[in-house]
Amino acid sequence: MTRIALYPGSFDPPTKGHEDLVRRSLALADQVIVAVARNGAKQPLFSVEERLGMLRDTIGGEGRVSIQSFDGLLADFAKRVGASIIVRGLRAVSDFEYEFQMALMNRRLHPSLETVFLVPAVDLTYLSSSLVREVARFGGDVGGLVHPAVAGALARRFSR
Ligand code: PNS
Repeated sequence: MTRIALYPGSFDPPTKGHEDLVRRSLALADQVIVAVARNGAKQPLFSVEERLGMLRDTIGGEGRVSIQSFDGLLADFAKRVGASIIVRGLRAVSDFEYEFQMALMNRRLHPSLETVFLVPAVDLTYLSSSLVREVARFGGDVGGLVHPAVAGALARRFSR
C-alpha cells in the first residue's frame, strides 16, 4: 500500500521552513503532495500559479514529491487523492490552538485522516511566510531564509 501524505498550506511564499518539513515528511510517507490552497489567504502576495512555480523551483527535484493546488475542503481533497496523513508544522505554542482545531475538524470530516505535526529544524522555528514578506517588502535580506528563486521573485515584486 502506498502511503500518501498531504502537506497543505498557503506557501505565500514558500520558505526554507517549508522545504525542511517536506524533507522530513518523506520519512513518514511514500509520496508527499504539497498542496496549495486556492481559497486560502484573501489577498496573497503571489498568485497560486506563482506559488506552484516557486515550490517546483525549491522542491520539485524530489522524485516522491508532487506539487498541486486544491479548491474547497482539504479533507475532500485528501479523500480524492487517497492521502491518509496531513502534515503540518508546529513552531511555537502560538501555532497550537489553530492547528488543534483544524486537526479535529479535519478528523470529523474524514475520520480515517490523521494529522501529524512536525517540528522544523531549530534555526528555522522563528520563520514564517508573513515575516519573510514583511522583511522583503522593506528591503531586508531574506537570503538563507528562502530559496534563491523565491528571493528573486520577492525582489522583483517589491522593486521600486
Ligand atoms: O499555510 P496556512 O495558511 O496556515 O494553511 C492553512 C490551510 C490552507 C491548510 C487551511 O486554511 C485549509 O486547509 N484550507 C482549505 C479549506 C479547509 O479545508 N478549511 C477547513 C480546515 S479545518
